[in-house]
Amino acid sequence: MNTLRLQLRFLVPLVLALAAAAWLTVPVVDRLTLRWFARDLSLRGELVANTLSDSIGQALEDRQSSKLDALFARVVQDERLVAIGLCSQDDRLLRRTSAFPTGMRCAEARSIAALPSPVAQIEGGPVHVGLYPVKNEQGRIADMVLLQDIGFIARRSEDTQNYLFVLLAVLGIVIAMITMVVAQISWRGWVSGARALLRGEGLIRPLGQPGELAPLAADLRQRLRDLEDEYRRNLGPDAPWDAARLRALLGTLLRGDEVIVVSNREPYIHDALPGGEVVVRRPASGLVTAVEPVMRACSGTWIAHGSGPADRTVVDAHDRLRVPPGIEDYTLRRIWLTAKEEQGYYYGFANEGLWPLCHVAHVRPVFRESDWRAYREINQRFADAVVAEARSEDPIVLVQDYHFALLPAMVRERLPAATVLTFWHIPWPNPESFGICPWRREIIEGLLGSTILGFHTQFHCKNFLETVDRYLEARIEYEHSTVSFRDDDTFVQSYPISIEWPSEQAESRWPSIESARETVFKRLGLPEGSRLAVGVDRFDYTKGILERLHAVERFLEKHPKWIGRFTFVQVAAPTRSSLEEYRSFQERIERLCERIDQRFGRPGYKPVILLARHHEHDALNELYRAADMCLVTSLHDGMNLVSKEFIATRNDEQGVLILSRFAGAARELTEALIVNPYHVEECADAIEQALTMPAAEQRERMASLRLTVRESNVYRWAGRMLVDAGRMRQRQRIEARVLRHRVA
Ligand code: G6P
Repeated sequence: MNTLRLQLRFLVPLVLALAAAAWLTVPVVDRLTLRWFARDLSLRGELVANTLSDSIGQALEDRQSSKLDALFARVVQDERLVAIGLCSQDDRLLRRTSAFPTGMRCAEARSIAALPSPVAQIEGGPVHVGLYPVKNEQGRIADMVLLQDIGFIARRSEDTQNYLFVLLAVLGIVIAMITMVVAQISWRGWVSGARALLRGEGLIRPLGQPGELAPLAADLRQRLRDLEDEYRRNLGPDAPWDAARLRALLGTLLRGDEVIVVSNREPYIHDALPGGEVVVRRPASGLVTAVEPVMRACSGTWIAHGSGPADRTVVDAHDRLRVPPGIEDYTLRRIWLTAKEEQGYYYGFANEGLWPLCHVAHVRPVFRESDWRAYREINQRFADAVVAEARSEDPIVLVQDYHFALLPAMVRERLPAATVLTFWHIPWPNPESFGICPWRREIIEGLLGSTILGFHTQFHCKNFLETVDRYLEARIEYEHSTVSFRDDDTFVQSYPISIEWPSEQAESRWPSIESARETVFKRLGLPEGSRLAVGVDRFDYTKGILERLHAVERFLEKHPKWIGRFTFVQVAAPTRSSLEEYRSFQERIERLCERIDQRFGRPGYKPVILLARHHEHDALNELYRAADMCLVTSLHDGMNLVSKEFIATRNDEQGVLILSRFAGAARELTEALIVNPYHVEECADAIEQALTMPAAEQRERMASLRLTVRESNVYRWAGRMLVDAGRMRQRQRIEARVLRHRVA
């Protein structure tokens, strides 16, 4: 309809313009044709005059008027020649044919003949008047007036006008038809072009034919990937990341899209005290430590297992609550599990199967069919919750850790446009080690539902790619670190996780180093002036606590002068205690601590103090600040955030970090004393080196470590992932458009 209106708007002025053109053209055509024919008639007259000149000259010489009359009578037989008159040089009319107007004098004929349109009206109609000299050898002897009929000119002019009208009409119709066709085509083009532009597809729309597009689309994809790579290379440590920058990133690159986090462990656990009072606890989890500040910056929804005894009492009808308590930056959505489900999915498959499988820590993984079933079911339950919580069809879903290896593909199936960022917080072993898992294929396929799959280190990425290569028919592009499986691409990249760098405001509330030392020494009954080493872990066999204690024992053995002047405090938060492996591990540690204390202790002095309970953040902060060194001796660790937390608290630039080379953190924190935890002697020497390290060296090392952690903070971790996600989303949108055009 719009098209028709538009065309009419164009056609009506066109017709009017053509009519006006015709109207203006007719007199011009008249004049033109007359001028053309006048020239013809003049030439014709000249020809007649030249032909007759001799005969007329002879007849005049012989004074034979009859001869002249006969000659003229013969000539005027020509139908166009109306009349002839012969004028003397003094303008007397010597002879005339019968049709020559009686009133026409020679002078008059001469003046008419001199006009541009030499036309006169005589009885029979309009005539062309021409005056031509008659010459002999002596020169001009008379003038001959020829009157030629020009009625045929008017007829021809009329014919020409008619032709002109027809021509203009035909031309008008042809132009109108062409215009209509062109307008139709281009209107459609413009409309869809405009629509495409509104959809942000201006780049692709003009490319029209799908078949021809394919190489161009491939080029485009390639270019986008190159740009991504280039961007990643350029994203150096000099670009500082903080909560504000992360928020800005979400608002710009990710256009305020919603963020949903999925993890097993929840960031806030509601506990019930014996009196019935409900208290909130923060769990001991590196994952929670890292993701919580990100979530506070991003808002959104965090879906997690409601594992606290009083968790149900504080949620709304949709199992949601706003957290952090009293601040309410984001929503926590709790998922409930029965004891049996928790046993199979969490204790069984995740912690007896995948945890030891991925941490090569000499504890045999256990794989039970029933655990696997529970794992699958709970992954599906969480995936359903993601779909239920999603307010759009393309949310950004941040999947956390080995509890949800199947969930990425499950979410991808239900929300194909979602961007699934999976972060594997623990190591990924080599293909041989991973290969013992009976469901290795399903796990890899599940993870390949992710848009981005992140590990802490490049080494873990490499292990994963090699595992895919070994067990799956997938295309791996090592150059771009991408796995293509069943038409979907997964970008595998390392994103070293970190902590939130403390703000100046937070630091101002910290106790001074002296008062922290005083409080801690007093509370733990440490000998005044003695030195303090700390270890802070969950009670987990991967943390190398046993090896650490052996090193402390060996150190005291080797350097007895430190007995009574050195204490090692181990904070060990109970974890997964219903698993036999963990219970027996805890018992072994307790026994070892007792043995060391018996061996080197004295009244009022225990060289080793085991604090086997959960500590809140402030208490740990105080302990770190009171310590002379921190021991992190994991046998295998994805990253280890304790090392980074210790560094962050030491704004006095003192204190020494002893760090296992098997923790991901060792790749970044190279100024620490790096040790092999299995090498007891080396660790014992590292303790001695730390105790005797000059303050200046401590400062130098600590200042450098602090710079690293400050720059590579948790906002950078999340920011880099989300930047990549933003680029992937952009690429997916473009690819989807290319695909649409190809299908169209
Ligand atoms: C590791 C895992 C986390 C887990 C944490 C505490 O850091 O990577 O996913 O939350 O241990 O373990 P838990 O089983 O108590 O959650």
